[in-house]
Amino acid sequence: MKILVTGGAGFIGSNLLQLLVPAHSEHEFVNLDKLGYAGNLQSLKEIESAPNYRFSQIDLVDSQAVSEVFESFGPDIVIHLAAESHVDRSIHGPRAFVESNVVGTFNLLEACRRHWNGSTSARFHHVSTDEVYGSLGDDGLFTEETPYDPSSPYSATKAASDHLVRAYSRTYGMNVTVTNCSNNYGPRQFPEKLIPLMILNCLDRKPLPIYGEGLNVRDWLYVDDHCRAIWKVATEAKAGETYNIGGNSERTNRQMVDAICEVVAGKTGVAPTELTDLITRVADRPGHDHRYAIDASKVKNDLGWEPAESLESGLEKTVDWYLANPEWIAAVRDGSYRSWIEQNYAAREEQEGK
Ligand code: NAD
Ligand code: DAU
Repeated sequence: MKILVTGGAGFIGSNLLQLLVPAHSEHEFVNLDKLGYAGNLQSLKEIESAPNYRFSQIDLVDSQAVSEVFESFGPDIVIHLAAESHVDRSIHGPRAFVESNVVGTFNLLEACRRHWNGSTSARFHHVSTDEVYGSLGDDGLFTEETPYDPSSPYSATKAASDHLVRAYSRTYGMNVTVTNCSNNYGPRQFPEKLIPLMILNCLDRKPLPIYGEGLNVRDWLYVDDHCRAIWKVATEAKAGETYNIGGNSERTNRQMVDAICEVVAGKTGVAPTELTDLITRVADRPGHDHRYAIDASKVKNDLGWEPAESLESGLEKTVDWYLANPEWIAAVRDGSYRSWIEQNYAAREEQEGK
């Protein structure tokens, strides 16, 4: 098969390609990515010369360029991951999210519709998020039936893209599947998301900023487990199905940061308190969802998928990867965005008189 992966230079996409390209020499893969700030070809070093892999630098907003990839490659499966993905950035500048996540998904769907011309043997798999469901209280789990109620510009654009994908199935009969998953972590994640940011700040002895009380809960999923689920759903699920993918690993942010300090301390030979002393409470994220947690029983019952990694084993692998890859860290780092967050959230605290 010919498989087009969008967003393959980002965190999840690069881990997906690192898993699939060597394991499936019978398939050809094209990675379509615009190489935005979170896209990095260094994340694909190990497979860049593989005979069944090719990279194409394209922005999904450019509909002509997207069409040309379809003409030249003719994919049988599209696995769509490309998106602006960071909630804080969407608060800072929502326009890029509407462009990439809504218009970009639309352009891709249109290229599929034209190229596949009503054929249902080709498939569009859409990778989405549990954030489309909004926030849970202290109890309950998101199921595939939970109504959409997005809170941030990021999750609103992901919800819009999910609706477009399902509309192309109902209206044009396109063969689509959708996965909505919880917070991923693991190697090659851009260090603005909680886990890599905390690991790198521990190593640099910089403050570990926790938004608000640190009591917000996320359901952490090791990235390789997510990639196995994407492949299973994209290649085995019935057309039109949606699956929630989660890690069965709920933690408050404070628990998570404590756990990171413990693992980093263990691996670098410092006292854990030297790192936990760096924890700094900062003003809360506006519209901060309280809790996400996934009921992943449907994907287990239908397709036999379960996460293999525990949070402890996954965190250890993640810290090991960041310790072993200083060149990757140096290549992706750019302090400009972090300083926006620090100034903006400090100003909010001042306004609130904290
Ligand atoms: P990421 O930000 O690390 O990578 C996104 C990639 O998409 C980057 O390489 C970027 O250059 C590319 N991209 C963005 N806009 C593009 C455009 N207009 N044209 C072409 N390429 C573009 O994101 P990630 O964490 O790897 O997330 C991948 C997907 O998974 C996203 O759709 C995200 O919504 C979804 N998701 C992520 C998580 C998570 O915890 N990271 C959880 C649930 C769902
Ligand atoms: O749930 C899936 C979503 O998970 C994905 O759709 C998003 O693409 C992905 O970015 C992630 O969103 P979150 O907003 O949950 O992830 P983030 O790593 O930004 O934050 C995790 C939690 O940690 C959240 O409650 C905010 C908090 N946080 C985050 C940062 C960066 C802090 O307390 N301090 C921080 O510095």
